Amino acid sequence: MKFFIDTANLDQIREAEAMGILDGVTTNPSLMAKEGITGKNSILKHYVDICNIVEGDVSAEVISTDFEGMIREGEELADLHEQIVVKLPMIKDGVKACKYFSERGIKTNVTLVFSAGQALLAAKAGATYVSPFIGRLDDISTDGLNLIAEIRQIYDNYDFDTQILAASVRHTMHVIDCAKLGADVMTGPLSAIEGLLKHPLTDIGLAKFLEDYKKGN
Ligand code: G3P
Repeated sequence: MKFFIDTANLDQIREAEAMGILDGVTTNPSLMAKEGITGKNSILKHYVDICNIVEGDVSAEVISTDFEGMIREGEELADLHEQIVVKLPMIKDGVKACKYFSERGIKTNVTLVFSAGQALLAAKAGATYVSPFIGRLDDISTDGLNLIAEIRQIYDNYDFDTQILAASVRHTMHVIDCAKLGADVMTGPLSAIEGLLKHPLTDIGLAKFLEDYKKGN
């Protein structure tokens, strides 16, 4: 499973990259705003800064909600850097734009996916990635992980190439459960990635090894 970090915070991206386990980055307008990155030029520069930190795919989201606007914005984003993946909303024009970009070899990530039917449409349109938001489904008492399982089954039934990018991952158990269910990618905060490191028996065992080493020296 690929690990993407879901943030626009450059320090956190560097931290995950330094661990050697990072495969890419996802961002969205809310994450950009959280870092105080506003205005078109600053946002475009920030995408390039992110691409210069990581080697993998970097999702950059369009703001337009009409087909022509999405094409214009998506082409501008794709021209920024070869690592850019054009992130499109799961609406009718987003599906049309996904088809347009996939026919031209430009990578896409169809976002704000909350149902198996939406994921099926994204795959039919040739999306590189589909982003089901599991945390936001959990927030409304709906099993987000069940959606990952449904999409996995549908994509496997028809050998769709679209990669399932589990998004709105909030914690370590989401990461582990997504891996068990066969998600191709997960994107989550640094805390969910670093949380995977933690086990008290590792800490106790390491302390004992170091203590015993000192006794013998
Ligand atoms: O990857 C999608 C993500 O940014 C949404 O996460 O935690 O706002 O639901 P969240």
